[in-house]
Amino acid sequence: MEPIPHSLCNSKAGRSAMPPYGSALAMLLSLASLATSCTEQESYSFLQFLAGLSQNGGLTKSWQKGTDCCSWEGISCSPERTVTDVFLASRNLQGFISPLLGNLTGLLRLNLSFNLLSGNLPLELVSSTSIIVLDVSFNQLSGDLPDIPSSTPAWPLQVLNISSNMFTGRFPSTTWKEANSLVVINASNNSFTGLIPTTLCVSTLSFA
Ligand SMILES: *[C@@H]1O[C@H](CO)[C@@H](O)[C@H](O)[C@H]1NC(C)=O
Ligand SMILES: *[C@@H]1O[C@H](CO)[C@@H](O)[C@H](O)[C@H]1NC(C)=O
Ligand SMILES: *[C@@H]1O[C@H](CO)[C@@H](O)[C@H](O)[C@H]1NC(C)=O
Ligand SMILES: *[C@@H]1O[C@H](CO)[C@@H](O)[C@H](O)[C@H]1NC(C)=O
Ligand SMILES: *[C@@H]1O[C@H](CO)[C@@H](O)[C@H](O)[C@H]1NC(C)=O
Repeated sequence: MEPIPHSLCNSKAGRSAMPPYGSALAMLLSLASLATSCTEQESYSFLQFLAGLSQNGGLTKSWQKGTDCCSWEGISCSPERTVTDVFLASRNLQGFISPLLGNLTGLLRLNLSFNLLSGNLPLELVSSTSIIVLDVSFNQLSGDLPDIPSSTPAWPLQVLNISSNMFTGRFPSTTWKEANSLVVINASNNSFTGLIPTTLCVSTLSFA
């Protein structure tokens, strides 16, 4: 079992008005009933993602409905059992990327590079209000890079690697100027029309 961080004990597990002799046991019990696995919503998102794959690189072995998705291959969680990292690079994944991955509210890093994923890059992922690093490079994603709705509240994305795919259309420079956190975009080796620098560093380069 993972060590329980101190802050968790303070914020959630404490029960006042507990007799001293019972408090140690009560503490253990209430810790055990705290998030010990990912949420059903999170599992659901992953199982929908899995359902969209025609080749899943053997993920079904550990991605079993009814089990804790924090223990599934390629998935890491915080000590509070919130999914924070999805690392599924080089797994021969084929199929499309479910927009429901954008519904993982604590997801910080998503790496799907070096697969054979096709279809669009879902708006839900690029406009996620949690993802800071998104790497879908070296796939077969196509279509336009989505415009970001101007209503997107906080856009924490810092690193976007969409290089070596088959994206087309005009790079949506106008809305992407709003990506204030963006440090690096690598959009090279696609089929965008118009001039796009090999690597765009939004803080220093302006879009045409
Ligand atoms: C996405 O997550 C929210 C809760 O965080 C939920 O209400 C909503 O139904 C989810 N969307 C889908 C398509 O499951
Ligand atoms: C994603 O994974 C690939 C393969 O391991 C790695 O080369 C790449 O650096 C990772 N991307 C990020 C943004 O860390
Ligand atoms: C994608 O780009 C990011 C930022 O430059 C980089 O850290 C990452 O390693 C790249 N991914 C791959 C597979 O090269
Ligand atoms: C962008 O990604 C491509 C591979 O898709 C790589 O060859 C290139 O070096 C990357 N550019 C930078 C500046 O990291
Ligand atoms: C460009 O993308 C294709 C398809 O993903 C890949 O096979 C090729 O190695 C990439 N070229 C470079 C220079 O990264």
